[in-house]
Amino acid sequence: MGLYEDYILPHVIHAACGGAPVTKQRQKIVPRAEGRVLEIGMGSGLNIPFYDTDKVEMVWGLEPSEGMRRKARNRVKAAPFSLQWLGLPGEQIPLDANSADTIVLTYTLCTIPDWNAALQQMRRVLKPGGKLLFSEHGKAPDEAIRRWQNRINPYWGKMAGGCHLNRDIPALLTAGGFKIKEIESIYMPSMPKIAGFTYWGYAD
Ligand SMILES: C[S@@+](CC[C@H](N)C(=O)[O-])C[C@H]1O[C@@H](n2cnc3c(N)ncnc32)[C@H](O)[C@@H]1O
Repeated sequence: MGLYEDYILPHVIHAACGGAPVTKQRQKIVPRAEGRVLEIGMGSGLNIPFYDTDKVEMVWGLEPSEGMRRKARNRVKAAPFSLQWLGLPGEQIPLDANSADTIVLTYTLCTIPDWNAALQQMRRVLKPGGKLLFSEHGKAPDEAIRRWQNRINPYWGKMAGGCHLNRDIPALLTAGGFKIKEIESIYMPSMPKIAGFTYWGYAD
């Protein structure tokens, strides 16, 4: 891990993911989590304030980047529920099968290198009847925006920790074995359209 990824990128990601439109998206998804929750790519812990403590038993925060875990330290300390770090990537979830009631996936599927392996792992650890709650940016519906997403994607990934602008989120979830039960999408306001098309909902 280089100096940029370890010391600068966590601040960049925290700022980019902490804006008002993204925060509004978190509020639509995170309070729906219940029971034993696995958050994939917890980052700087921006979802922590939005968990409903009456519904959440505990949270596993899976986050492979030490720099991101460092950036999350204060929010983790202040978490009003038991939170356990898992310092591994989504492709290697170190939990038993059927251990999570809810999986929370926000703005991370864009970044996971082997998204299919990670989704297989999520399926393995999600209990029957459990829910995968997601809010993820990706492939835009407009051809002109999609062209720009495809053009900029290789450079964007280098600056943004491997984030892809153009992943087809519903198609990835379905290919990974999930059934989408509810989905909505919007261009988040006050954000560049290439990075702001968000899909949210739940799958099982
Ligand atoms: C754009 S950030 C989003 C962070 C957080 N989910 C949020 O909503 O603020 C993407 C996160 O995915 C993490 N990540 C990168 N590769 C990953 C992998 N293979 N598995 C799980 N998370 C990964 C990054 O370290 C980073 O914290």
